[in-house]
Amino acid sequence: MVIAVDGPTASGKGTLARRLAAHFGFAYLDTGSLYRAAALRLLRAGGDGADTDAAVAAAQGIGPDDLADPALREEATGNMASRVAALQPVRDALFALQRDFAACPPAGLPGAVLDGRDIGTVVCPDARVKLFVTADVAARARRRHLELTGQGQEVAYETVLRDLKDRDARDSARATAPLARADDAVLIDTTKLDIEAAFSAALEACASRMDGS
Ligand code: CDP
Ligand code: CDP
Repeated sequence: MVIAVDGPTASGKGTLARRLAAHFGFAYLDTGSLYRAAALRLLRAGGDGADTDAAVAAAQGIGPDDLADPALREEATGNMASRVAALQPVRDALFALQRDFAACPPAGLPGAVLDGRDIGTVVCPDARVKLFVTADVAARARRRHLELTGQGQEVAYETVLRDLKDRDARDSARATAPLARADDAVLIDTTKLDIEAAFSAALEACASRMDGS
């Protein structure tokens, strides 16, 4: 049983995916953290997003230590992540890990929840449940700004909004695995939903898709 959760940055997809995994007792994979880990390794090696070979090297052999690095959540890492994520060879390098996680969740768990940009379209096109989580750009920028200032990062709201729009444009316009709602994905717009209400909407969608399993 696979639940695919896609959507743009700060739409609330990670929060939702984590809660769904806990609710159903499924394994959870934040696929964005894989791209972030590749980006961070690239940044630390002094590389840039234009160097495909260096980016692929950074995407190979990502381990638990990379995924636990607090610098993963920084905006600079997220912005570089969306650059390396536009490179097909980088996506190829991260594909098997994601597909294997979905096909064979760790610890023998009965299902998996993956969140990202292309889970319902590319990584798990046969997922039983597909959710596309979104919210308007101002709401997302406010959430991300709150998060960053809460972590002690000094950044202006306007900067967060601009970066978020840039990232949306890059993620949606790229030729390879662009951010897109799968035809069979249930849309959840969280602009006016708090976390609890979004979770209820997601559970309802899951119930209708899991019916008869
Ligand atoms: O948390 P946030 O939504 O800001 O970003 P993320 O999910 O950590 O992803 C960081 C970047 O990785 C995104 O901007 C995407 O460009 C890329 N990504 C992707 O291309 N495909 C995925 N399945 C997940 C992330
Ligand atoms: O994974 P993604 O980048 O899509 O977003 P997230 O990390 O789940 O949520 C981004 C921020 O928005 C977090 O601080 C959440 O607590 C908040 N949030 C919210 O205010 N209302 C929601 N319905 C969902 C998330």
